Amino acid sequence: MTATDDAAAASPALGAPLDASRDAALDPALVDRVEALLARGGRRVLGLVGPPGAGKTTLGRQVRAAFGDRAVVVPMDGFHLAQSELERLGRADRKGAPDTFDAAGFVALLRRLRDPQPGEVVYAPEYRRDLRNGVAGAIAVPSDVPLVVTEGNYLLLDDHGFAPVAGLLDESWYLAPADDVRLARLVARHEQYGKSPQAAHAWSHGPDERNAALVATTRPRATLVVRPA
Ligand SMILES: Nc1ncnc2c1ncn2[C@@H]1O[C@H](COP(=O)(O)OP(=O)(O)OP(=O)(O)O)[C@@H](O)[C@H]1O
Ligand SMILES: [Mg+2]
Repeated sequence: MTATDDAAAASPALGAPLDASRDAALDPALVDRVEALLARGGRRVLGLVGPPGAGKTTLGRQVRAAFGDRAVVVPMDGFHLAQSELERLGRADRKGAPDTFDAAGFVALLRRLRDPQPGEVVYAPEYRRDLRNGVAGAIAVPSDVPLVVTEGNYLLLDDHGFAPVAGLLDESWYLAPADDVRLARLVARHEQYGKSPQAAHAWSHGPDERNAALVATTRPRATLVVRPA
């Protein structure tokens, strides 16, 4: 990953492995940036934001790999409404839209994470693509972990209950890979989790793309724009 401004050219690597164990190392410029954040002391919260398939989860893993026990990743995805509730509400066909998340629950958790109580472990939910549902209590955040990384589409959205999130982040990094690369990776990931090639294409260019357009409107609020390599 490379931290750049908007004018810099991206050099995407299409077809790179999906295997998490083969993630590239975190860009040294981003390591320095996190170190500077941590040098301020106390609990720090870093937000990774961007459209579907931009590489937020991948970058989160890179930060975690670079900082080890000093960092925990708490994804916004853990606050997906349950598949059963989406079906009850009639929103399963646009899962991933802002009103398919428990935004208030996410905000409440971020408030707890911002204000760690000595000795208290805060538990966060994790979204499981294989189950198509979240699992409660999956991510433990001990009070002495200095860095919480949260990642998701709507961290900088000023609507649908997400408006308080931006104020709970110390920094936000907006991931902006080239759009064709992002879409190709998104289609491949949907296929990897069981969609047919046609269904993967239709979902990536349909519901995901509508969400991508909404996320793009929040980009000017980010502290930094990152062009994944
Ligand atoms: N630098 C890279 N090179 C190759 N593949 C990558 C790279 N970064 C991410 N990918 C792949 O692209 C896909 C999307 O990445 P990732 O899941 O990190 O995106 P995301 O922003 O978390 O997406 P979503 O919003 O849907 O959760 C994944 O399959 C991931 O393995
Ligand atoms: Mg993700």
